[in-house]
Amino acid sequence: MSIEEMLRCNSQKVEKALEDFLPMRSCRQADLIEAMRYSLLGGGKRIRPALALEFCRVCGGREEDVMPFACAVEMVHSYSLIHDDLPCMDDDDMRRGKPSTHKKYGEALALLAGDALLSLAFETLLKSPAQPQRVLAAAKELADASGYLGMVGGQVIDLDSEGKRIDYDTLKAMDEAKTGAMILAAARMGCYAAGADEKAVQAAAAYAVNVGMAFQVTDDILDVTSDAATLGKSTGKDSRDNKSTYVTLYGLEKAKEMADAFTRQAVDALGCFGEKADTLKELAFYLAGRKN
Ligand code: IPE
Ligand code: IPE
Ligand code: MG
Ligand code: MG
Ligand code: MG
Repeated sequence: MSIEEMLRCNSQKVEKALEDFLPMRSCRQADLIEAMRYSLLGGGKRIRPALALEFCRVCGGREEDVMPFACAVEMVHSYSLIHDDLPCMDDDDMRRGKPSTHKKYGEALALLAGDALLSLAFETLLKSPAQPQRVLAAAKELADASGYLGMVGGQVIDLDSEGKRIDYDTLKAMDEAKTGAMILAAARMGCYAAGADEKAVQAAAAYAVNVGMAFQVTDDILDVTSDAATLGKSTGKDSRDNKSTYVTLYGLEKAKEMADAFTRQAVDALGCFGEKADTLKELAFYLAGRKN
């Protein structure tokens, strides 16, 4: 199976599972649920669920155990995008090829749809039929990755770094937290669903930390080199907002070299899995060369 086929096939399964985990439209909070559905369904590359599913498969786990974990990660990710686009943050009007959630539903409902997706993520994760200690490990992972030391903490560094020349360590810490933490969580939660041993979890983590860095550096590159139609979100916004990114701090060429270096380190980390990890290797290269 090619990497594109694998992503398409996983995306379809994830989309269906997300539908099932979302609350019924007919309940009392119809507007809120509509806004949650709008941001969560019908768009997005579903990279984080793909990582969770693939690590679970490589570690010999069952898809039904990991699917709630994969969907939970995607719910937190969608919430992070809704809030990231708000006027008080990056103030972006377009997301996943559509008006961003606050443009469609207003700021208050967008904010609350994000909040509700975060809660729904934990409700969803707890529905996994995996052994209780595996579910517990996944819940702790998601809580840590989404919180003050993870995604939210990274977003704070991002906002605080606007218009400043930050040092490399701060830039790396920002990207590891705002983007890397959720990618790392997806990979480790896939391993937990399968009851993988410590060696496998550590290898998965080393891969995911580097994929996460390459992913954000590539996102920074695409903000400069791509266009809104291809990307599904507006471009040129990092320099507009005086963001500190690999591109704004080091230039396009150096940023590309850094993304490649992170990708190579990611692939090197998979040694202990042997041929079983070939798809994950391909996925790392695919993500570094992606167009959106
Ligand atoms: C966008 O993430 C935000 C970043 C962390 C760079 P994705 O590029 O995975 O966005 P979707 O889910 O495919 O829309
Ligand atoms: C987003 O980084 C990170 C999170 C959403 C947590 P960006 O602000 O660069 O993402 P885009 O470019 O808006 O998707
Ligand atoms: Mg941002
Ligand atoms: Mg943004
Ligand atoms: Mg960006």
